[in-house]
Amino acid sequence: MDILDKIIPKVGDKIGRYELIGELGRGGFGIVYHARQMGLEDDVAIKLMIPQLTPQATKMQPYERFELEAKLIRQLEHPCTIKIRDFGRTEHGLPYLGMEYVRGRTLDAVLREEGPFTIGRTINITKQVLGSLAEAHYLEIVHRDLKPANIMLGNVFGEKDITKVLDFGIAKVLGGQTAVHTIAGTRFGTPWYMAHEQAKGEKIVDARLDLYALGLIIAECLTARKVIQEEDFMAALMAHSSETPLSFEDSVIDSPLFSIIKKATSKSADDRYPSALAMRKAIEDVQVSLDKQTLDSLAKDLKPSTSRLQTSSELHSASTDETTAQVPLWAFLIAVALAVVMTIVALVT
Ligand SMILES: Nc1ncnc2c1ncn2[C@@H]1O[C@H](COP(=O)(O)OP(=O)(O)OP(=O)(O)O)[C@@H](O)[C@H]1O
Ligand SMILES: [Mg+2]
Repeated sequence: MDILDKIIPKVGDKIGRYELIGELGRGGFGIVYHARQMGLEDDVAIKLMIPQLTPQATKMQPYERFELEAKLIRQLEHPCTIKIRDFGRTEHGLPYLGMEYVRGRTLDAVLREEGPFTIGRTINITKQVLGSLAEAHYLEIVHRDLKPANIMLGNVFGEKDITKVLDFGIAKVLGGQTAVHTIAGTRFGTPWYMAHEQAKGEKIVDARLDLYALGLIIAECLTARKVIQEEDFMAALMAHSSETPLSFEDSVIDSPLFSIIKKATSKSADDRYPSALAMRKAIEDVQVSLDKQTLDSLAKDLKPSTSRLQTSSELHSASTDETTAQVPLWAFLIAVALAVVMTIVALVT
């Protein structure tokens, strides 16, 4: 631990042109710091990779490989993908990424603090994640570690749930398959969102494994509980690697998003959506049909007053008709009365 103490930067230290002003959190690969770019005073997040802390299973790739991957990830421009501004090595050779700093919380934290989301909120966040994935998949970049802790919800001028996907391709930088990582004795890892083929250890990496993870995340948004609730790493891994379809809570099954969740989490990648764009189209179709249902029920609620309007206009036209009908009647009566009076007068005289 002495050596690590020496090589891990502390708050107040400088990395390249950044000054570390706080620690934002620790994950499986290292530490994320809140930093400030000296001179510009810009906020950034610095993700420092500490390969010495990861077990053999995730032996980090050589720095040249990291550099290659970082350059690739830097191509991502979608507004819902965290922007990588910079990368480099500390004086002790630890690789780091300089990222756009998000003022907000991870989806994981928001679900724990606020509980289940409405369908509308879930759709809004999912569509943003799918936009980010669509661009990355187009560039043949697969996330491989999509999970609520890698999605941040930011607030910009009161507009909430501005969604940012973090850690694209980081799992690859650290040696391929996601595995259990350990930092300071704490267990980290993501078997809970691992696609069937990943959990089985298949080497084929296909964009559809991100869609499987997203299907699980949509279900989690609706319940604020993981689909795979086993705390044990191996039990979670088994649930995904088994050929048995996943089981979901009743509230998920009853949700209008269930058909999408079910398709996205199919054990066979061929039964999933072929692309992020296809999945987004399916979500948009659900949104349109929900909007239509809302409009229909609003119209239904409005119907009584509409019929009242019709009734009053009908009454108006009816009374008008009555009036129109009464005029000749009065005229007729007056005429009759006049005729009678004139007859009497004629008879008398
Ligand atoms: N760009 C960012 N802006 C603001 N905060 C961030 C940013 N990136 C990460 N964080 C914060 O740092 C924490 C740790 O992130 P990190 O990616 O290391 O952990 P993780 O996602 O839980 O694990 P993993 O290493 O498996 O991705 C996050 O939970 C988040 O709160
Ligand atoms: Mg992360």
